[in-house]
Amino acid sequence: MDDPDHGAAVRAWLRDIEVFAEPLPEFDPQQVPADPTTLFLSWLSQAVRDGLRDPHAMTLSTVDESGDPDARVLILKGVDASGWQFAGHGFSPKGRQLAVHSRAALTFYWPEHGRQVRLRGAVAGGSAQDSAADFLGRSTTARAESLLGRQSQYLADAAERDQALEKSLALVESEPTLVDSAWTLYTLAPTEVEFWQAARSRIHTRLRYERTPQGWERFRLWS
Ligand SMILES: Cc1cc2nc3c(=O)[nH]c(=O)nc-3n(C[C@H](O)[C@H](O)[C@H](O)COP(=O)(O)O)c2cc1C
Repeated sequence: MDDPDHGAAVRAWLRDIEVFAEPLPEFDPQQVPADPTTLFLSWLSQAVRDGLRDPHAMTLSTVDESGDPDARVLILKGVDASGWQFAGHGFSPKGRQLAVHSRAALTFYWPEHGRQVRLRGAVAGGSAQDSAADFLGRSTTARAESLLGRQSQYLADAAERDQALEKSLALVESEPTLVDSAWTLYTLAPTEVEFWQAARSRIHTRLRYERTPQGWERFRLWS
């Protein structure tokens, strides 16, 4: 039932939850490297040094065949001159979405630092060799699950899943170099990368790098 008092109470409760608690790190957008990769790695390193949990977790946003957005959290697998890497099953919803529409966004958020990084760009699947190397670096159970190729399908019977997983695990243990050819290491090559630093005052600092034929250009943004 729609209870307006309850709705108001929830809104008040949400408004009172603290956000951007201090201390927050400094960010001077005048003193930044020419390349966003370097700045990203320095923010990530600070998150790791300060013991933030899952600092390499990020939201991957994609668009499905009907143009509807979708998003989920993944682990960052690498960052280099080609872009930001993540891995997933080619037959999963995200894999199918990327096959149809190969553009995506990545969003990182480090709450204790009040820092967000947003990237947008084209996504390409990696070579079979790179994807296989990523696959073989995963845990036995993760590889066994992947080989079932059923990620995000309806699970009607957990016992059926446990049985299938047990069989798949036995296969992975007997053939440790077995690779799921649908497992893909993807690279997002950003055309823009935004660095967002919260301030308790709510005058947040925003800096966007945009890729141009001449290289990266930097723009401050209103908050
Ligand atoms: C912290 C965290 C890390 C994750 N890392 C991965 C990952 O690296 N690859 C992956 O396929 N799913 C990962 N997942 C699961 C995804 O969020 C998602 O549930 C799954 O990939 C199915 O997404 P899809 O149905 O949109 O394809 C992770 C989830 C969390 C919460």
